[in-house]
Amino acid sequence: MKIESHYELSDLIKPEETFCKKANIQNNDLYEKANHNRLDFWEEQANQLNWDQPWDSVLDWKKPNAKWFVNGKLNATTNCLDRHLTTHRKHKKAIIWESETGQKQTLTYEQLHKKVCQLANYLSQTLGIKKGDRITLYMPLTPELAISVLACARIGAIHSVVFAGFSANSLQDRLNDSESKCIITTDIAVRRGSEINLKEIVDEALEKVTSVKDVIIHKRTNKTINWVSNRDHNFDEAINQSSTTHKPESMDSEDPLFILYTSGTTGKPKGIIHTTGGYLTHAQYSTKVVFDIKDDDLYWCTADIGWITGHTYLVYGPLLNGATVFMYEGTPDYPNTGIFWDLIERYSISIFYTAPTAIRAFMKAGESIPEQYNLSSLRLLGSVGEPINPEAWNWYYTHIGQKKCPIVDTWWQTETGGIMITTLPGLHDMKPGSAGKPLPGIQAQCLQDDGTTIHSGGGLLSLTEPWPSMARGIWGDQERFNEVYWSKFETYFAGDGAVKDKDDYFTVIGRVDDVLNVAGHRIGTMEVESSLVDCPKVAEAAVVGIEDTIKGQAIIAFVILKEGISESANLEQELKQFVATKISPIAKPKTIIITPDLPKTRSGKIMRRLLKQAANNEILGDTTSLANPQIMNTIRDILQSNI
Ligand code: PRX
Repeated sequence: MKIESHYELSDLIKPEETFCKKANIQNNDLYEKANHNRLDFWEEQANQLNWDQPWDSVLDWKKPNAKWFVNGKLNATTNCLDRHLTTHRKHKKAIIWESETGQKQTLTYEQLHKKVCQLANYLSQTLGIKKGDRITLYMPLTPELAISVLACARIGAIHSVVFAGFSANSLQDRLNDSESKCIITTDIAVRRGSEINLKEIVDEALEKVTSVKDVIIHKRTNKTINWVSNRDHNFDEAINQSSTTHKPESMDSEDPLFILYTSGTTGKPKGIIHTTGGYLTHAQYSTKVVFDIKDDDLYWCTADIGWITGHTYLVYGPLLNGATVFMYEGTPDYPNTGIFWDLIERYSISIFYTAPTAIRAFMKAGESIPEQYNLSSLRLLGSVGEPINPEAWNWYYTHIGQKKCPIVDTWWQTETGGIMITTLPGLHDMKPGSAGKPLPGIQAQCLQDDGTTIHSGGGLLSLTEPWPSMARGIWGDQERFNEVYWSKFETYFAGDGAVKDKDDYFTVIGRVDDVLNVAGHRIGTMEVESSLVDCPKVAEAAVVGIEDTIKGQAIIAFVILKEGISESANLEQELKQFVATKISPIAKPKTIIITPDLPKTRSGKIMRRLLKQAANNEILGDTTSLANPQIMNTIRDILQSNI
């Protein structure tokens, strides 16, 4: 496979001198330290946390199993909360929250600590949840979600946050896979002016789940909801009746902190496992050096806690650093496309971290919108989740950052736990479209298919040394973990293609496997295919990605209908809705193409590569191995009349 950048990379752009002079990282010392002795370097970072018991050794590495800070003991929440209470941060705001309905809430570190302790007490004492038990959190982006995450961590329960946009079916799969004992949810979520009844979705999901014994519901409205006695508990009552002091569980460095499900190349999402000591070490370190966090910053990461970005850079990383986090429950386009700039102006937000898909939508709406707001409080911008094209980068830099805010384009994954490749904002020149260099302590390379290193040029991205926040496994499926990440090369295979240039900057092109990246969300083509074939009208389905100017990629599904089913006016809508209900609206195909057949090899394998080329209007590759080569002409004709 030939991997090359589609971008014309422009010259390097220097960060403003005023920024550099005050930056947390101003020289190469960290790189030198890490290159001199990587394990000493990581040990130094781990020492920035409070440990109940020191570790015996830094790393025990038997590929692919890593143990970091062996036998060390600590608790995530004493590091995120308790240790700040003896400092000036006790009364500092930890979370400032607003919702699209204008609801507001602010919690100081002291207040957040109290609520976390109260919920922790309820979970452990009233519900009997123990260390190692799994708790699923299915909630919108409210402070109560952050409180729930931290309460789980306090008692050593493993949290599994499921993004509240997932369907009952997806939630059910994740509850069953993790064998969660308890679920914490909310009566409603609000999204673009409408209410989504989360509790109803939970009740539906629980119809086929036996492990869940308790449901805690955060009630935001006075509406009457279905209430199952002996199972359902009221979140506020649970907090109010519990003690505000709680002795945290002392966790082994390698005890799991959380599971987070992400899409892979099969129909079944992977429960990625992150452990305590290594994850927290990297979360604290990377937040400090990449986002240049200072005590007077107001930091806003727009990601939902349902994704890894929300875990590491909305909850753990900022709180470990004693920062004030701004949290917004709402979308960038409701009630209007100026809402984000309005929030930045009103709250004087200084650090803003978002996704290219949002930036491209803002760009489309035009710069006249941000121009109406005072964005002078901003000092640093970030991008994550997908490649940012230089045009969007330049727009972000010019119209949001006023050419004075450095941009950190951060490459990482659910599996890496934290940022792996980026520029350090006060140290490196920026190259629009290119993420930058591996962070101090991280090693990356582009490899050829046979594993040889490419010193300059395109290849498969691999992280070549273990790092503390690396995923420790896939919940219940160690074999799949070994197979997906550790069997192709000797070192970790990220599943992405990238180009390393002469300045050692990495430009990440995107996935090289059957995983799509739609608006920064990972969606496996197999997941969408298997949901489509579950539809009684569908015989076969093949799903590929097409380029999309706003979302990066969009889903296109080729569908063969069952005998006797004919095309009808609303069939396309029906199939799209079927996927939305089965998985989530984020997985909805943009276009459904009804076709009499699919391109198949003689052994019956669907040639998705050809479908992808046809859908993207590219020249078709070799079709000689097809059993039915003429189908590609038919498909091209149908495509031309559809897209
Ligand atoms: O393809 C890469 C892309 O997002 C994938 C990881 O998705 P997920 O696990 O959902 O985590 C997203 C947030 C960290 C990667 O394999 N990706 C992420 N950041 C970038 C990126 N691609 C290019 N540039 C980035 N900065």
